[in-house]
Amino acid sequence: MFLKLLILLYYASQTWAMCPTKCSCYLDHKGRNVVACKEGGTVGPLNLNNVSLDTEVIKITAPDDNMNTLTMSPVFQSYRRLEEIHITKSNIPQLGMHFFYGLKKLEVLNLSQNNISQPLDHNFRGLSNLKELYLDDNRIISLPSGTFRYLLGLRLLSLQRNRLEELTPRLFLEIGKLKVLKLSGNPLGILHSEVFRDIQELTFFECRGCALTKLNHDIFHLLPDLVHLDLGRNEFKNVSSDDLKDLQNLKYLKIDGNLITAIDNSTFVRQTALRRLNLSNNKISKIATGAFAENGNLTELAVAYNRISNLEFLEPLYEILEKLVLSGNHLRTESLKYLVYLNALKELRLSDCGLAEIDAEIIPKSVVILDLSENYLSTLEKEMLPLNLTTLDISGNRFRGLEEDFLTALDNTPNIKLDHNLWSCDLCHIIPLLERVNRSAVFRELLCSAPYTVKGIKLERIQRNELTWCNSPSYTASDANFFSIGRDGEVGILVASTSVFLLFLTVIAIIGALCYTNRHAARYYTHEDKIATAEWESIAGNNHSPLFGDGELNFKFPLDTIEEKKISIATIDEIKKEHTIANGT
Ligand SMILES: *[C@@H]1O[C@H](CO)[C@@H](O)[C@H](O)[C@H]1NC(C)=O
Ligand SMILES: *[C@@H]1O[C@H](CO)[C@@H](O)[C@H](O)[C@H]1NC(C)=O
Ligand SMILES: *[C@@H]1O[C@H](CO)[C@@H](O)[C@H](O)[C@H]1NC(C)=O
Ligand SMILES: *[C@@H]1O[C@H](CO)[C@@H](O)[C@H](O)[C@H]1NC(C)=O
Ligand SMILES: *[C@@H]1O[C@H](CO)[C@@H](O)[C@H](O)[C@H]1NC(C)=O
Ligand SMILES: *[C@@H]1O[C@H](CO)[C@@H](O)[C@H](O)[C@H]1NC(C)=O
Ligand SMILES: *[C@@H]1O[C@H](CO)[C@@H](O)[C@H](O)[C@H]1NC(C)=O
Ligand SMILES: *[C@@H]1O[C@H](CO)[C@@H](O)[C@H](O)[C@H]1NC(C)=O
Ligand SMILES: *[C@@H]1O[C@H](CO)[C@@H](O)[C@H](O)[C@H]1NC(C)=O
Repeated sequence: MFLKLLILLYYASQTWAMCPTKCSCYLDHKGRNVVACKEGGTVGPLNLNNVSLDTEVIKITAPDDNMNTLTMSPVFQSYRRLEEIHITKSNIPQLGMHFFYGLKKLEVLNLSQNNISQPLDHNFRGLSNLKELYLDDNRIISLPSGTFRYLLGLRLLSLQRNRLEELTPRLFLEIGKLKVLKLSGNPLGILHSEVFRDIQELTFFECRGCALTKLNHDIFHLLPDLVHLDLGRNEFKNVSSDDLKDLQNLKYLKIDGNLITAIDNSTFVRQTALRRLNLSNNKISKIATGAFAENGNLTELAVAYNRISNLEFLEPLYEILEKLVLSGNHLRTESLKYLVYLNALKELRLSDCGLAEIDAEIIPKSVVILDLSENYLSTLEKEMLPLNLTTLDISGNRFRGLEEDFLTALDNTPNIKLDHNLWSCDLCHIIPLLERVNRSAVFRELLCSAPYTVKGIKLERIQRNELTWCNSPSYTASDANFFSIGRDGEVGILVASTSVFLLFLTVIAIIGALCYTNRHAARYYTHEDKIATAEWESIAGNNHSPLFGDGELNFKFPLDTIEEKKISIATIDEIKKEHTIANGT
């Protein structure tokens, strides 16, 4: 009786009192005893001093700038209750023989971010219940046949970002229950179907950035249960229905970042279960009209950064598609008309599409996330805005102002991005925005881009009674740039056909801008340095241009503190620079 009590007490004290210094010990959300050591800097053989025997989860890791340098030692034998071991960022060079032997409850072994070059089968002996093995970010160069053959219950194997150049035949011997295999970031070049013969229950396969040059339908023939396939950032030139014909359960397919040039009517005919498809960052110039005719479950389609100009292929998806990413394609304006029929669309991304205008009626009313950033838009009508919009991004366009009724229509839209436009802080353009500065940082932080007197100033620092009238030159230097070096095709045509006229306008504009700069820049300084208005007026009246004459610089600025002087001089340099740039145009 007494002895029992003692033993109980002993265990209790162990549980409650023992925790290695520099580690933390706690219960996780599943009620398991966790020992977590994250400080790093430990050198030498792994030891578990003061780690209680009933520990169920061990996590040893380190910050990036203070990694451990550990060698494995046979310390786990008495920790029969371990369910998870994570030893990461510890430079472990190799795993010892039978070190995990007897850990019948171990389900997760995470040895990512170490320096392991060749795991061998006997390293994993005794881990018959292991379900997940992570060996990401090591230096594994080769894996012999049957490396994992003692891991009869393995479900997930992750070997990402190692140095594997090939998969040895029978590598996956005895791990036939494997569902998830991640090989991304290994320079494999080619995948041989033979090696997949041992893991035919796979549902999830990733090999991004594996330098693969072609799809191999013999592999997919062995993997009919695949649901998730990610072969992005490889070097495929084409993808055909023949390649994919056996993947009839596929729901998620990523083949972005390849060299695919066209999608034809038959490519995805067998993928009736397909829900999400990523074809971004390829060289696709043509998607056949009926390409998605059989994909009645496709809700998400990304074709960003291709060479698509025609959107007729959307027709079969009118009632289905919920997310469409078309960014980075130079879409023809008349092609946009297909968009409005996408009745289920929630998210539409048209960033960087070379759009100079958008008709009010092309955006589907169901859209809640609309991305129009990085285009050439300068006006939008409020009729264009869907009713339940939660996100609107029009950053990186050519807006100089927004109308009051447009902004009112946006009052219930919580996420708006407006930055990097040509906000013109004068009476004609900015008032509706200025009236909203107290509402959120979206408006407060906007930077004026014209007139020169307030260029680069945040909207929150602009006073309404200081706004200039709109007789400010309507072609500022930035507008001139827009016309002369627009990268967009449409603008290019415009420039070609009306170049003479525009050249004339540009010259006028530049002259205008220069005069304007001189005059207003000068005024800006006086504001900043709080020189009496009267004093300023006397100078301005004389039509001096004190800014560019060295002699008068000192006179202009108060010399109270060195710091103020520094700021002032820096500002002068900026203006001078702008002056020369304008001159150079
Ligand atoms: C183990 O615990 C003892 C006393 O609690 C302490 O003195 C010792 O430094 C600890 N050792 C380690 C490695 O944490
Ligand atoms: C394995 O360890 C790495 C590095 O610490 C970590 O990022 C990753 O989330 C871990 N994996 C699991 C499944 O816990
Ligand atoms: C990793 O192992 C290699 C030899 O396999 C060794 O040269 C290198 O120094 C090790 N790196 C670290 C950080 O320990
Ligand atoms: C795919 O490309 C290969 C060579 O890269 C070519 O032989 C084959 O005909 C192409 N298939 C299709 C459907 O374009
Ligand atoms: C598609 O892949 C690209 C990378 O090529 C990625 O940036 C993008 O987020 C993916 N799109 C979707 C919708 O998953
Ligand atoms: C592709 O399918 C569409 C409609 O489903 C059809 O109009 C078109 O002719 C087909 N194109 C080819 C090349 O078969
Ligand atoms: C959606 O996928 C299921 C299989 O998951 C399939 O049975 C069904 O026919 C598909 N629906 C359409 C409209 O294609
Ligand atoms: C907007 O949301 C309301 C309420 O959530 C809903 O009744 C209405 O149908 C939505 N309108 C559109 C065009 O989706
Ligand atoms: C914003 O708030 C400040 C201080 O609370 C106030 O002086 C200013 O007039 C307000 N601006 C607008 C446009 O309401």
